[in-house]
Amino acid sequence: MAKDSLTITDNRTNKTYEIPIQYGTYPQYGASIRATDLRQIKNGEEDFGLLSYDPAFGNTASCRSAITFVDGERGILRYRGYPIDQLAEKSSYLEVAYLILHGELPDEQQLKVWVDDITIHTMVHESIKKFLDGFRYDAHPMGVFVGAVGALSTFYPDARGVDDPDCRAIQITRLIAKVPTLAAMAFRHSRGMPYVYPDNDLSLTGNFLNMLWRTAEPKYEPNPVLERALDVLFILHVDHEQNCSANAMRSIGSSRPDPYCALSGAAAALYGPLHGGANEAVLRMLAGIGTRANVNKFVEGVKGGKERLMGFGHRVYKNYDPRARIIKQTADEVFAVTGVNPLLEIALELEQVALKDEYFIERKLYPNVDFYSGIIYQAMGFPVDMFPVLFAIPRTAGWLAQWEELLKDKEQRIARPRQVYDGNDTRDYVEVGKRPPAAS
Ligand code: CMC
Repeated sequence: MAKDSLTITDNRTNKTYEIPIQYGTYPQYGASIRATDLRQIKNGEEDFGLLSYDPAFGNTASCRSAITFVDGERGILRYRGYPIDQLAEKSSYLEVAYLILHGELPDEQQLKVWVDDITIHTMVHESIKKFLDGFRYDAHPMGVFVGAVGALSTFYPDARGVDDPDCRAIQITRLIAKVPTLAAMAFRHSRGMPYVYPDNDLSLTGNFLNMLWRTAEPKYEPNPVLERALDVLFILHVDHEQNCSANAMRSIGSSRPDPYCALSGAAAALYGPLHGGANEAVLRMLAGIGTRANVNKFVEGVKGGKERLMGFGHRVYKNYDPRARIIKQTADEVFAVTGVNPLLEIALELEQVALKDEYFIERKLYPNVDFYSGIIYQAMGFPVDMFPVLFAIPRTAGWLAQWEELLKDKEQRIARPRQVYDGNDTRDYVEVGKRPPAAS
């Protein structure tokens, strides 16, 4: 009779072990074994037991999660069960943030209270302004953002009560409300412009545009198409299950610091060019290619290992990234207002050439979320170095949902991977004069 287990024979000892196979709520979405079950497999009394070796977590489930579902082979992304295209079309960023954090869409009253709560928490302490003054005039806004979010920890010492659900709720509200303000301040600092206070009459994205662009006008009126486009882009970036920055949020959160410190670490993980820094890298790449005529030469360079085609490829998606498809539609709406970004031509040509090329087909490399987002951001007037910050604002909701889930999960403990030690075996210390000269 079929059994939900593995029978493993250790050929070193000829011993046989039976290891249970476990399923999540949906058996079709993955069976697993407990890695610690392998520890009973020993090659003698003194042996520590078998480890599973998995650099970069290529095949390790670090948690059970009910937040986001990604099926990379079929190009599916759902938040709490809702397909991303439905949310992008019908919902708003703040409603999706509520969904991702609470597990259900809010009813009318809950949505109103949530939006009001976020709106009244958008201000930051005046001392943040002085703190930001310490950054150099040309500081990268993402570095400023990472520092400023971490600094919030010192303003809210109560936030250390991470095991108290009410305490967590207030920090979550504060963070979601304040990250757009900090992001806008980071931008204004880099431009030497005075900071703009939040305007509570505006939507979250409308107010963000106000804090970025307002100059001397008494009241800033955001363009509704750009306000909505930004909202859609925010929805697409809310969460993406156990990626590098979510893993950083969980790993830091597992030692129980306040969420500002954990989120600052997650944002730092996002900053890298292989993760949220990719949209910035795409723009620099497109600008470097310069004209459509240079695309083939560039692609040859990628195939020869001289370059990387930024905005292409994904650890999980081995099919078109569903977010990239929605972004392409949003691009058309934005360009109708701003005029077409000249880099679009190069991007379209690059996509066409790559999708037909054996190198990319074989490796299942398709455009990811970052391939077109930068082109839209640039057309909307954002400088390239703001792109990762624009990613971090909505991802804050996702990081917090991952953090909250971690803290409620009884199976989770402080994150502490094992290693396979590869260094020197025991050796005796030799005094400095008695050591042989080091090889140059
Ligand atoms: N350009 C050229 N070759 C690539 C690319 C690329 N963008 N991505 C992967 N490859 C090749 C890679 O060289 C390797 O080839 P080979 O088997 O001959 O050695 C093969 O494809 C498998 O790549 P990998 O590096 O093992 O794949 P990974 O899952 O470790 O990396 C990735 C995923 C996203 C880091 C990578 O595809 C990449 O660097 N892409 C460019 C950066 C980027 O766009 N990042 C944004 C990701 S989506 C948003 C987010 O999550 O932040």
